[in-house]
Amino acid sequence: MSIEDEGTRLPEVENVPLIIDAEFTEEEDIQTSIDELNPLPTQRTSKPLDLPFPSPTPSGRARVVTVINQKGGVGKTTTVINIASQLALRGHRVLVVDADSQGNCATGLGVDKSKVQHTTRDLILSPETAVTARHATAVEGLHMIVGDRSLVGLEQEMLRQLGRERRLTEALQPLLPHYDIVIIDTPPSLGLVTINALVASDGVLIPVQTEYFALEGLAMLAGTLREVRNLLNPQLGVDGVLLTMHASTLLNQQVASEILDHLPEFVIHPAIRRNIKLAEAPSHGVPIHLHDPNSNGGQDYQGVSSVLEKRWSLI
Ligand SMILES: Nc1ncnc2c1ncn2[C@@H]1O[C@H](COP(=O)(O)OP(=O)(O)O)[C@@H](O)[C@H]1O
Ligand SMILES: [Mg+2]
Repeated sequence: MSIEDEGTRLPEVENVPLIIDAEFTEEEDIQTSIDELNPLPTQRTSKPLDLPFPSPTPSGRARVVTVINQKGGVGKTTTVINIASQLALRGHRVLVVDADSQGNCATGLGVDKSKVQHTTRDLILSPETAVTARHATAVEGLHMIVGDRSLVGLEQEMLRQLGRERRLTEALQPLLPHYDIVIIDTPPSLGLVTINALVASDGVLIPVQTEYFALEGLAMLAGTLREVRNLLNPQLGVDGVLLTMHASTLLNQQVASEILDHLPEFVIHPAIRRNIKLAEAPSHGVPIHLHDPNSNGGQDYQGVSSVLEKRWSLI
């Protein structure tokens, strides 16, 4: 037997069973409501999170809201697509701006990316393209500006530009009087493109998955928001924290209680339940209300949109 054979033959590896401690099953029928959660019985050990409160929208123009969390896969894009389309369905004039290079908003709203001429990248580099960059979507009254791979590398190019944090603010200016709400989707990073979105915004909406490290992530984001407020946009406030992919596991419930305990004024009810219909909808190029409005996900996004409609003074 060669030395190589000895090194690769490890029969004990095949005979030892794997540890299975994760739950892979879909929890479709759970009826978990964050209204029923109690604050944690333990004493709060950390300081409460210091999130800034929002200011009202100046009259005669859209409120600009950035959906943000530096963590990927927490439901930012799903939230943008479904809140934007719910609000459009209710008769509000809505514009989605996709500032993420993955460009998933276009797919989820039925926009054919191969036909797109101007993207969010063009908007940031040449603000005058804003008016002609808008696309119709699968939802009436909902328009969008598409993000795509061309956003990769943009931050490097912008380093040479003057006023680089305010390019998106400038680009959106002529559009604001024509909409009630502008929702910006962001990449999972706090780079210059995300900073542009924050500087252009009145408020932020923070989707948080009720998993480990949720509060650590929120604390980091709170620091970024404070910095942007101090240096670039004193109006910026938090319009809401949205609990996403929520399920009835002990961990989910504990993390949700902890977030509620720290941020009672900011958490929006209901939480968005984990629901396969929400994950399926983008493959059909439609939001949840055109795919399965009565699914748990459909109902939860309707509930959240009703709260935001009031918070944003749209009704
Ligand atoms: N409530 C939910 N239940 C089940 N799947 C979800 C839910 N929200 C989002 N997803 C799925 O999880 C993945 C990540 O969501 P996404 O919205 O793209 O997150 P982000 O934009 O923060 O990266 C996507 O495949 C999406 O379809
Ligand atoms: Mg996304």
